[in-house]
Amino acid sequence: MGEGNSLPEGAQPPDTVAQGSRDETSPWEPCYLLRNMIGKSRWKILAVVALFLVMAWYSISREDSFYFPVQMEGLKCPQGEVEKKAAQLIGNYSRDQPTFLQLKDFFWIQKTSTYQLPYGVRGSEDVLLRVLAITNYAMPESIQNPILGIGFQLDARLKCLRCVVVGNGHRLKNSSLGNTIDKYDVVIRLNNAPVVGYEGDVGSKTTMRLFYPESAHFSPKVQNNPDTLLVLVPFKAIDFHWIETILRDKNRVLKGFWKQPPLIWDVNPKQVRILNPFFMEVTAAKLLSLPIRPSRKIKQKPTTGLLAITLALHLCDLVHIAGFGYPDSSNKKQTIHYYEQITLKSMSASEHNVSHEALAIKRMLEIGAIKNLTYF
Ligand SMILES: *[C@@H]1O[C@H](CO)[C@@H](O)[C@H](O)[C@H]1NC(C)=O
Ligand SMILES: *[C@@H]1O[C@H](CO)[C@@H](O)[C@H](O)[C@H]1NC(C)=O
Ligand SMILES: *[C@@H]1O[C@H](CO)[C@@H](O)[C@H](O)[C@H]1NC(C)=O
Ligand SMILES: *[C@@H]1O[C@H](CO)[C@@H](O)[C@H](O)[C@H]1NC(C)=O
Repeated sequence: MGEGNSLPEGAQPPDTVAQGSRDETSPWEPCYLLRNMIGKSRWKILAVVALFLVMAWYSISREDSFYFPVQMEGLKCPQGEVEKKAAQLIGNYSRDQPTFLQLKDFFWIQKTSTYQLPYGVRGSEDVLLRVLAITNYAMPESIQNPILGIGFQLDARLKCLRCVVVGNGHRLKNSSLGNTIDKYDVVIRLNNAPVVGYEGDVGSKTTMRLFYPESAHFSPKVQNNPDTLLVLVPFKAIDFHWIETILRDKNRVLKGFWKQPPLIWDVNPKQVRILNPFFMEVTAAKLLSLPIRPSRKIKQKPTTGLLAITLALHLCDLVHIAGFGYPDSSNKKQTIHYYEQITLKSMSASEHNVSHEALAIKRMLEIGAIKNLTYF
């Protein structure tokens, strides 16, 4: 990933070589001054040193507790495994792509994308620029892919980013997986899936939530944590217009959505990210073998769920999934989500082919790229 600033540039040890000492007793001699200062404010210096030590200890212990929050039985970090398996699935795939779109990649550049949304941003650059100017692209320090940081190799071995993608499937009901889910370093949730009232089965931690306007929860502050990254998955140009008008309180766009998105959406713009359409392209072209052509109306698109798995393969050292899978198509009465009473019938008009996606997920399970926490 290109984002982030892992190396403290130009960090050099302070010049510790004494500049010579002709006359030890001269009051203007640097050493004398220093000793004098130390004598006068010894306690202050000791206090500063003590404070520094406490801070260093705190940041180290925090770092540890983040990457190894709780010992999960039998969960060793398979460093590099997921990346290898992803390459197996996705061809000569590299992790260099930025996860989120950033202003600097679009500001001076005329043509950046071969494809239109949802596989690229061709033709939507102007509104995208305005959106990127008010949102953010930074990956939190705690998630940053440690593998790329040159000079951080030693550190990288200690770190292990364990991720769980929580689908919205009915199989989470009565699963009691909440505690387990909350133990992962990164919890990725989808669309408007609620946590309030379902904590025992789905947990309450949300590191990232992937959504698009029609699937945005109407109470984002209630269903997310204050530091949750709200990751917009752009499907069409008005998705950018929607987020722009919401965040800048401009006249709302009302037409062009297949379902009414929120008109007031109380979030901190700095928590909003725009997912790189590269992931949508990879999911469609490589995982689902869908035809992708520039300037063509797209008939079939990946679901946010499969997209989230692709994203996790890109970011994480370990990818587990929970709440994925749909009931058998013969099972007409079975509800498909853990939080609402809709059946497979409601999916029939969608642009998703869930049985096709199920085959892709099965393949990922088979080669061990991902692991399922609920029956798939
Ligand atoms: C994959 O390999 C081909 C041929 O070596 C190259 O043209 C292409 O850019 C590569 N793609 C990626 C994503 O690295
Ligand atoms: C979940 O548990 C409740 C209460 O025990 C029960 O009524 C319900 O049928 C269960 N649902 C599923 C899907 O197992
Ligand atoms: C959906 O995917 C299945 C399995 O790959 C395939 O047999 C079926 O033809 C697909 N349906 C459509 C409408 O593309
Ligand atoms: C994962 O799915 C397989 C079926 O595909 C199932 O046999 C297995 O029990 C599932 N694992 C868990 C933990 O539910």
